[in-house]
Amino acid sequence: MTKCAVTEWSSLEDRKPVHALVANVDLVVTRFDDKVSVLYGQCAHRGALMSDATVSGNNLICGLHGWDFGKISKEHKAGEWPVWQTSLRNPNFSSYAKLCGGFGARVKTADDLEAAIQNALDFDGPGIVEIMSDTELI
Ligand code: FES
Repeated sequence: MTKCAVTEWSSLEDRKPVHALVANVDLVVTRFDDKVSVLYGQCAHRGALMSDATVSGNNLICGLHGWDFGKISKEHKAGEWPVWQTSLRNPNFSSYAKLCGGFGARVKTADDLEAAIQNALDFDGPGIVEIMSDTELI
């Protein structure tokens, strides 16, 4: 592994995210007192640069639509991972429901919603109807 400088510590203002580009990958660098976080620099929602985010507590709030990049240090420590080095992605909730013995359906179009809900109601046990949505349309 080749190390490279992302930015200069002396240039970082406390809780003021800045952009860095490494190997053509956008990063956001934020100083929190005497610590620093380096995260993927594009918002998972619509790809805005997180260097335009604001800091609220330990979280970065995207400047475009307000998505929250939470610091989950408690979960990192519980998993014995270094803080800031996990990828935050939603699991497939419907598959998870099935693995647990319940009903699971993942709905991607409005046409499939009614049948999925009916199947969930007909199921003898707990279930999840996971509806894939675009927050811009809500
Ligand atoms: S692009 Fe970040 S919240 Fe929409």
